[in-house]
Amino acid sequence: MNEIVGRAPENIFDTWGLYRKIVNSNHMFHKEIYADIAETLQSSPRNFTLLDLGSGDAAHLAPVLAQLPIGGYCGVDLSLTALGFAEQSLSMLACPVELQHGDLLQVLKGKKGRYDVVFTSFALHHLDARQKADFFKAAHARLNTGGFLLMVDTVREEHEDLPGYLDAYCAWVHKWQGIDNEEQGLVCRHILDNDFPETLSTLKVFSQQAGFASCQAISRYKWHSVLRFGR
Ligand SMILES: C[S@@+](CC[C@H](N)C(=O)[O-])C[C@H]1O[C@@H](n2cnc3c(N)ncnc32)[C@H](O)[C@@H]1O
Repeated sequence: MNEIVGRAPENIFDTWGLYRKIVNSNHMFHKEIYADIAETLQSSPRNFTLLDLGSGDAAHLAPVLAQLPIGGYCGVDLSLTALGFAEQSLSMLACPVELQHGDLLQVLKGKKGRYDVVFTSFALHHLDARQKADFFKAAHARLNTGGFLLMVDTVREEHEDLPGYLDAYCAWVHKWQGIDNEEQGLVCRHILDNDFPETLSTLKVFSQQAGFASCQAISRYKWHSVLRFGR
């Protein structure tokens, strides 16, 4: 049974059409990234459970999970619009699906149960550095033995400071085919106002401070990275 619980303010992703257009054009490498996710989750045990933080519409994750022996899925997002689409995407799963409306860090900290996989895709860069460090601690506390945090996110180059990253990313956005000038401007405004990606070495420090035993960089497409942190 699908269930949407909790209430929080709407956000920019309620204009979901533009994000979907970007993703459908594969500008953020969803095609390659979700092939990597499928490979990483391939050996998941029967009835494994997954917590998806900043699920969005779950349009790419749902078909991956549908091929796996998943026993339970919980998705969390600030956008009710996204959660409405997620409910449709996830209807292909045979396992129980819970959708929760709220801030991912608050929801994660408030959880009592444990999961085999904590997953987050293109959401963590919205948190500031202290919140990211808290996120790693809370994710570690919610993982079963043998579980892992699987993270997709933009990650700065080691030599790039935040202003340098924002300049470079937005210059690249202005080259995106199929996204018009006005839309490119909206994307850049959103990025400039909301994005705070870290370097890999900073994420590694946060994970070690939280108690994670390993950090594996699975793949990287420009700044878009897939990382696995073993409990
Ligand atoms: C770029 S989209 C990514 C959606 C999907 N995970 C993907 O990879 O395509 C970011 C999502 O994170 C959600 N989000 C951003 N900050 C959040 C927060 N603090 N708590 C919960 N959801 C958040 C947005 O509403 C949006 O649905």
